[in-house]
Amino acid sequence: MVKIAPSLLAADFAALGAEAARAEAAGADLLHLDIMDGHFVPNISFGPQAVRAIRQHTRLPLDVHLMITRPDEYLAEFAAAGADIISVHAETCLHLSRTLQRIRELGKVPAVALNPATPLTVLEYVLDLTGLILLMTVNPGFGGQQFLPAVLPKIAALATLLKERSRAIPIEVDGGINAATARPAVQAGAGVLVAGSAVFGQADLQAAVAGLRRAAAGEGAGR
Ligand code: DX5
Ligand code: ZN
Repeated sequence: MVKIAPSLLAADFAALGAEAARAEAAGADLLHLDIMDGHFVPNISFGPQAVRAIRQHTRLPLDVHLMITRPDEYLAEFAAAGADIISVHAETCLHLSRTLQRIRELGKVPAVALNPATPLTVLEYVLDLTGLILLMTVNPGFGGQQFLPAVLPKIAALATLLKERSRAIPIEVDGGINAATARPAVQAGAGVLVAGSAVFGQADLQAAVAGLRRAAAGEGAGR
């Protein structure tokens, strides 16, 4: 079953708690929280205090996507704030294996995120430590960008690698996911779909989440 992870980046920032609850009521599987520091990406979003506040408004697992330099310095804070999954960008980690180990020691699911241009080879020797792999399907920093089709063969190559190594690590895709791009991403091997604008950009969140699920399953909009 494909999982849907609405991203609060596209929600009403003046009402993040209510928006989190709305996503849960709409049938989301996870809640994706984009943390941006203005250094790794050219945008600033919110930090651990916001994560802690959002935690009080939903029982959904919190999927915290760290787009920050020096993530190691903040892992404990995000863990204490209520993160369930913590994704670090391989591009920001000098010692990726140590960082993943640290997340695991904090009792959270360690995830590795890769920019579109970053090769899969960085994952090869950390699969033991990885609970989820996030492939960016846009360059990180902003919501509402167009899905990069060049990442499709990368998703497929990762799915093949994981199969060869007998690893059941879910592949999450993030960026430009909508009713049109969900299906090709899933066909290539994605199991978790992050969607910001395609969910929070719609008035009816439940219909948006259901529509993504149908699209992911290859069912037409009318069915
Ligand atoms: C982009 C973020 C995404 C963003 C996706 O840097 O990592 O999670 O919220 O937004 P959409 O779904 O609008 O492309
Ligand atoms: Zn994200």
